[in-house]
Amino acid sequence: MDRIRASCKSLECLVLVLLFFGRVDCRNSTISGQWKWKLLLNNTGVVAMHMAVTHDNNVVIFDQTGAGPSRYRLRKCRTHGPGDSSCYAHSVEYNVLKNKVRALHLATDTWCSSGSFLRNGSLLQTGGNGLGSRRVRYYRPCANGQCDWMEVKRRLSVRRWYSSSLYLPGENGVIVVGGQGAFSYEFVPKSSGSSEPYNLPFLHRTYERDSKGNNLYPFLHLSTDGNLFIFANRDSILFDYKRRKVVKRFPTIPGHGGRSYPSTGSSVILPLNHDDNFTKVEVMVCGGAARGSYQAVQQHGRYLPALRSCGRMVITGNQPRWRMETMPGPRVMSDMLILPTGDILIINGAKRGCAGWDSASHPAFEPYLYRPDHKAGERFQVLKPTKIARLYHSSAVLLPDGRVLVAGGNPNNEYISHGVAHPTELRLQALVPGYMTARLDHLRPKNVTVTYSQGANGVANGNVFGVSFRLRLGTELSNLTVVAYAPPFTTHSLSMNQRMVRLACLSTEMGGEADTVVATVVAPPSIYVAPPGFYMLTVVNGGVPSRSAWVRIL
Ligand SMILES: *[C@@H]1O[C@H](CO)[C@@H](O)[C@H](O)[C@H]1NC(C)=O
Ligand SMILES: *[C@@H]1O[C@H](CO)[C@@H](O)[C@H](O)[C@H]1NC(C)=O
Ligand SMILES: *[C@@H]1O[C@H](CO)[C@@H](O)[C@H](O)[C@H]1NC(C)=O
Ligand SMILES: *[C@@H]1O[C@H](CO)[C@@H](O)[C@H](O)[C@H]1NC(C)=O
Ligand SMILES: *[C@@H]1O[C@H](CO)[C@@H](O)[C@H](O)[C@H]1NC(C)=O
Ligand SMILES: *[C@@H]1O[C@H](CO)[C@@H](O)[C@H](O)[C@H]1NC(C)=O
Repeated sequence: MDRIRASCKSLECLVLVLLFFGRVDCRNSTISGQWKWKLLLNNTGVVAMHMAVTHDNNVVIFDQTGAGPSRYRLRKCRTHGPGDSSCYAHSVEYNVLKNKVRALHLATDTWCSSGSFLRNGSLLQTGGNGLGSRRVRYYRPCANGQCDWMEVKRRLSVRRWYSSSLYLPGENGVIVVGGQGAFSYEFVPKSSGSSEPYNLPFLHRTYERDSKGNNLYPFLHLSTDGNLFIFANRDSILFDYKRRKVVKRFPTIPGHGGRSYPSTGSSVILPLNHDDNFTKVEVMVCGGAARGSYQAVQQHGRYLPALRSCGRMVITGNQPRWRMETMPGPRVMSDMLILPTGDILIINGAKRGCAGWDSASHPAFEPYLYRPDHKAGERFQVLKPTKIARLYHSSAVLLPDGRVLVAGGNPNNEYISHGVAHPTELRLQALVPGYMTARLDHLRPKNVTVTYSQGANGVANGNVFGVSFRLRLGTELSNLTVVAYAPPFTTHSLSMNQRMVRLACLSTEMGGEADTVVATVVAPPSIYVAPPGFYMLTVVNGGVPSRSAWVRIL
């Protein structure tokens, strides 16, 4: 078999393999086909207040334990009478391949808690309400269907309800920030010899007493320079968590309303690129609630129109400023997910009101696709609506097969099926992106396999690894990119730890089979660009993504 090499300095590498010819313009949005909704299950048993995809391709789902009986009754259980919630599951594991859930067991209340994956693929989950508010839990993914939640003795320093968590690669642990009545942050595991928690004045400054704070569940992003970006309400800082110092204060985001709980907007960092050695970090914040929304609901039962604006800001530049854009409609409590194409999906939520029990109306049935690289004014596309409302306590995650899993929604403080405006939502849906249509299979890379150097079980930052994939003979090849996606922990419109890195490819060559391409890909240079852990690796050809394989960054 001939070995034909083509060097590709940047990963917009056109693979100049003789077998492949022609070009497609992957920027042509009409190429992307129809987006479809599919109902997967009628009853997940528990509300998907929190969701995360593990590296064994299952999805951990959990609710609060304090909402009374769920719709998943445990078989072996001696009940203590009606309403005894301990005879019901409050967490399940969804098996994507089998399309089935199995019960998991939570010891304390995880209501409005936070989580992050560690470098070894375990989920570290923190806080909640009541007895759960200072708890630390682990979920260690397994292939045998035996794994379950484990609570450890170690406690958080203070109660953390509505706090956010972010994995800090330098510490090999997480930082947990804020929470109701908690104007502080702490590390888990605790940094040695410290008297945590540490006061964070920024959380006092952004607190709005008569709006239930408007700064809970702050948005956290790790900048590639190792500093922590913290956004709460309408303000943001760059925080050196090692020296515990604010190193930059960013301008207030424009718009008449808040972006943090209960004015719940959403935020992502746009895909990071090898082109600039990952030095440009751009944050995006979308939606939120109008000023006075919380009081309008509480005092008058009025649901004010949500915010319609998004802001983008480069946080690594010298003169950071928000550049504002307008969404096709108002939105609050939406989730934002980064798709393998680098586009941003804005999904779930409502058009009026804010977060909280029965505090929103007019479900936002239509997801938006935001294409960051398009010209301003041409970035939003309105996608096919669903018929299922996804209000408070709903969530969405990207699956390794390319679909988006959408679940949950419960604006009631218990499981209610009838007689309320928005019953507890237990249906599980997949949003099947247009890029998955069979019509595009001729462009799609298949059978993506990751290979490490001999004896290794992962790749260290800055080192190379192999990515092989198959393409139908004669496939047009264009704009081949390899992206790595850190799967988030999602709840309350936050996707904690979500990030996407576009990787550099050094070369591509033909593999042993005629239709196989082997790319030599470089893992990002630093732990602050791509913190160690499991990533979904996707090969995208002409805007058409493969299924993802997992790559482990050591
Ligand atoms: C490839 O993608 C880049 C952005 O990612 C875009 O600027 C360029 O126009 C694309 N090229 C082709 C041939 O589609
Ligand atoms: C996109 O592709 C379709 C079909 O190939 C073509 O008809 C259309 O003109 C293209 N649109 C743009 C903006 O290039
Ligand atoms: C859900 O329930 C409806 C109505 O009973 C039924 O028609 C449908 O087939 C069910 N769907 C699934 C995925 O179980
Ligand atoms: C990952 O590390 C955590 C914390 O040390 C530990 O509790 C967990 O069991 C580890 N998971 C795996 C898969 O080794
Ligand atoms: C490639 O993947 C398909 C499923 O996508 C599978 O059926 C097939 O066996 C795989 N081929 C190889 C050579 O791994
Ligand atoms: C790219 O960034 C890393 C740190 O993130 C640095 O070590 C390296 O020297 C940089 N490379 C170039 C070519 O600037």
